[in-house]
Amino acid sequence: MSNKGRQCVRYLFLKLRPGWRDLEASVQARHKEEFASGVKRFHGRLILRPYSLVGTRGDCDMLLWQVTEDLETLQAVETAIFSTGLGAYLDIAYSYLGLTKQSEYEFPPLGEDDRDETIITPSDEKYLFVYPFIKKREWYSLPFEERQAAMTDHVRIGREYPEIRINTTYSFGLDDQEFVVAFEGDSPSRFLDLVMELRSSPASAYTEQDIPVFTCVQMSLWDVLDSLGGASPGARAALVETDSEGFIRAGTLADLPPGAKKRVYLGTEAVALFNVDGAFHAVSDRCSHGRASLSEGRVDPDSCILECPWHGGKFELASGAPAGGPPQRGIRVFRAKVEGEYVLVG
Ligand code: FES
Repeated sequence: MSNKGRQCVRYLFLKLRPGWRDLEASVQARHKEEFASGVKRFHGRLILRPYSLVGTRGDCDMLLWQVTEDLETLQAVETAIFSTGLGAYLDIAYSYLGLTKQSEYEFPPLGEDDRDETIITPSDEKYLFVYPFIKKREWYSLPFEERQAAMTDHVRIGREYPEIRINTTYSFGLDDQEFVVAFEGDSPSRFLDLVMELRSSPASAYTEQDIPVFTCVQMSLWDVLDSLGGASPGARAALVETDSEGFIRAGTLADLPPGAKKRVYLGTEAVALFNVDGAFHAVSDRCSHGRASLSEGRVDPDSCILECPWHGGKFELASGAPAGGPPQRGIRVFRAKVEGEYVLVG
């Protein structure tokens, strides 16, 4: 599908059926592993941001915010998700589809903070507040100048809250709503204040519907899956016996050739394991800056520096010390060794 530079955006809200929690712990853990690896297959083809709604809303448990170039990728992701064991226990609670588009209105420039509205670049803010909305038909009958003035006022209020970022997608003719707005921010109270203030703006009077509203908490996919309850792959790994020196088998040499990387579990710890030109290194899987999974990062084999996939934070693999970018703290280093055909982590 050609979108002429626009992106396809999907907000897929999923609800877990309670019967899943009655499954055996080993099955629950396997389901989570399958789900995560099913999603991981699409890395590089789309931005997929997972969020948990456990504790913020009763009718859905997670959001997969997906941004890609074509609808076919969105279809393929959903097929992959529903082909997993966990997928059999997930219902689509809500689904919103839209495309990015340059606004028809003109606003005073912001300088460096101006963004290309046709490209979604999610930030690292902890919360995402999402709602679909529809405007009254009378809005579209107003003279353009009147709509421009109302929108200018609307945007002026929004700019008084620079810590809240808005992502607008357009759904006209594609889905039931006209727009989907997704606000990123670290402070629910600031977002609440912004929305209250916007209610008094002239443009707001022309809103036909702007519910449901979703308060979503950004986490790694593993944490989102664990927020569902049930056993996690980490808990299952904790049941694996270590040898007398505290090592577990993380894989075989055949599975982990030079350049390979893998997330393994040592007790309740997620560990990122790397084969750098035949030398194995194991560090904490969680970046010390945010919630990125470092096993998805990149290692420079010459310097043995690991680069975080989220914001480019760097760490020395041998010591775990920060070596550049936003992280101020190091990461934990684990022991890794080869015994026979096995790679051990301890
Ligand atoms: S999460 Fe920000 S640098 Fe790793």
